[in-house]
Amino acid sequence: MARTILITGASSGIGRALALRYAQGGTTLGLLGRSTDRLLAVAEDCRKRGSTVRTGVIDVRDRTEMAKWIGAFDRDSPVDLVFANAGVMEGRRPRDHIEPPDLAHALMEINVLGVLNTVHPLLPFMMARRHGQIAIISSLAGFIPLADAPSYSASKAAVLSYGLSLRAQLAQHGIAVSVVCPGYVTTPMMLRESGPKPFVIEAEKAADLIVRGLARNKATVVFPFWFGLIARIGGILPDRIRRLSMKPFRFTVSDPP
Ligand SMILES: NC(=O)c1ccc[n+]([C@@H]2O[C@H](COP(=O)([O-])OP(=O)(O)OC[C@H]3O[C@@H](n4cnc5c(N)ncnc54)[C@H](OP(=O)(O)O)[C@@H]3O)[C@@H](O)[C@H]2O)c1
Repeated sequence: MARTILITGASSGIGRALALRYAQGGTTLGLLGRSTDRLLAVAEDCRKRGSTVRTGVIDVRDRTEMAKWIGAFDRDSPVDLVFANAGVMEGRRPRDHIEPPDLAHALMEINVLGVLNTVHPLLPFMMARRHGQIAIISSLAGFIPLADAPSYSASKAAVLSYGLSLRAQLAQHGIAVSVVCPGYVTTPMMLRESGPKPFVIEAEKAADLIVRGLARNKATVVFPFWFGLIARIGGILPDRIRRLSMKPFRFTVSDPP
């Protein structure tokens, strides 16, 4: 198991579950998030399990601060594994016909540029060491566009493509890249979404599946299996059939708490 692990979005949900999953003696964790209180609480729990932990409260959109923090962290503890996990979900509000435009812009910056801001600062270091693993958190929405969450779907398709391109390029430098595509996972993000949530799993289970997939250096870590298969087939259906089959799964997104 990797020894130095950097996780963005570690203050909640899947990122928190990953931090706790990797927390043990001999592991150094770099945990990034926005909410100080939540991040410090996760860090404390990880320390209790024996990890050395460093935290950073940074917005992933801040390219300069991200590069500064990540560079300093890597100089002290060379990163073996990074999770570009921080993300937001937006979509159509119950009162609206389309998603709020300002939030859609912010989402693109967080979910797409935030991933670049996480990965880019590490590449020169990992390439020089010819060692490292990069895990980018996409979604099943990266395979099948959701009518009620256009910017979210686009952002997840973007990082899916980005990660697989990077994987093809970086293999020759000894760096592994995997893209993680979860279905519904019970987290604060998911709870804002109305509508049916088939095959939903807990964040701890998602963390287990991710750890297992990364150990096998899979190009894509897609789960749950059957929902992943349905999403991938749905993504290649003719438009009219796809829209009809997606009708029972339409949803709205509530304002953040
Ligand atoms: N839950 C699902 O069903 C599901 C399914 C597929 C994919 N995903 C993906 O999994 C990832 C984690 O989501 P989650 O479900 O665990 O959601 P979550 O519980 O809401 O956690 C999101 C994390 O991202 C951080 N974050 C959000 N915006 C940020 C910003 N601008 N700068 C820095 N950090 C920011 C949050 O920090 P603060 O809390 O401190 O603001 C939080 O730690 C996301 O990329 C999401 O798209 C989730």
